[in-house]
Amino acid sequence: MKILVTGGAGFIGSNFIHYWLEKHPDDEIINFDLLTYAGHLESLESIKDNPHYSFIKGDITDAKAVDEVVSKVDAIIHFAAESHVDRSILDPLIFTKTNIIGTQILLEAAKKFGIKKFHHVSTDEVFGALPLDSDTKFNEETSYNPHSPYAASKASSDHLVRAYHDTFGISVTITNCSNNFGPYQDPEKFMPRMITNLLSGQKVKVYGDGKYVRDWLHVLDHARAIEMVFLNAAQGSTYCVGGMTKDVNNLEVAQKVIKLLGKSESESIEFVTDRPGHDRRYAVDWTKINKDLGWEPQYDFDSWLEKTVKWYQENESWWKPLKEKSESIYKK
Ligand SMILES: NC(=O)c1ccc[n+]([C@@H]2O[C@H](COP(=O)([O-])OP(=O)(O)OC[C@H]3O[C@@H](n4cnc5c(N)ncnc54)[C@H](O)[C@@H]3O)[C@@H](O)[C@H]2O)c1
Repeated sequence: MKILVTGGAGFIGSNFIHYWLEKHPDDEIINFDLLTYAGHLESLESIKDNPHYSFIKGDITDAKAVDEVVSKVDAIIHFAAESHVDRSILDPLIFTKTNIIGTQILLEAAKKFGIKKFHHVSTDEVFGALPLDSDTKFNEETSYNPHSPYAASKASSDHLVRAYHDTFGISVTITNCSNNFGPYQDPEKFMPRMITNLLSGQKVKVYGDGKYVRDWLHVLDHARAIEMVFLNAAQGSTYCVGGMTKDVNNLEVAQKVIKLLGKSESESIEFVTDRPGHDRRYAVDWTKINKDLGWEPQYDFDSWLEKTVKWYQENESWWKPLKEKSESIYKK
């Protein structure tokens, strides 16, 4: 099968491409990515000469370039997006353009060229937030209630994907997943920022009181979930994907990382001004994907966290050049 992966130079896309080519070495992947601040071809260095992999620099909002690449493939797995909530507060318009218009341009091309499968990678942030003192979780029936411009743009893209299935019969699937972590995540995101700060002798920055609960999904568990949905799920279906997390808040994640790196807690944490509209709690119920497709996370949160910290310790040459650039966003 020839698959177009959009946004394959980003965090989840690059992990997915490594995963897929290892599991399905006879398939062919075209990685179509604009290489924004979040796109790093260094993450794909080890497979750049693989004859089953190729890279095209292009913009999903450029209909001509999209038509050209979509005409060559059987299926699309769509990761490309503006994905950082903090950036969506500084510059919301690019989120509308990339995440909504870009997705629609891809769907148009899928329609035009009779694409067999279109998988859309989305987020649990489309559902809004849960109260801290509840034990409810998001599931496939939860109503959409996005808060940030990022979440609103992803919600719109989900609706468009479903509309193209219902109206034009495009074969689509959607996954709404929780916060991912793992190798090759840009050091401007919460977990790698924290790990690389500590590795650089700096403090961890924790927003507000740190009592923001996230559901943490390892990126390789996510890649496996996308694989199962893409290959085996009914067309038009949606699956929620989450990690094996008992509610853990950002402050507790920081404390775990500090401990793994053998640092002193009192000297390693700095509380900083909260961001506007900060959602208190996300939690994902992944019963449906477990029941229908047999998916579950491979390890618990603590085991995956330890592996992740180790990866950043061993791959300074990957994150060091990105670290300085990534701090500029927080200065703004
Ligand atoms: N990271 C998470 O925790 C998380 C959680 C839930 C859902 N998601 C979703 O998963 C997908 C991937 O997330 P990520 O964390 O890997 O994002 P990322 O920001 O690391 O990567 C996004 C990639 O898309 C590319 N891109 C951006 N605009 C583009 C355009 N106009 N045309 C082509 N390429 C473009 C970037 O260059 C980059 O390589 C996104 O759709 C995101 O909404 C992410």
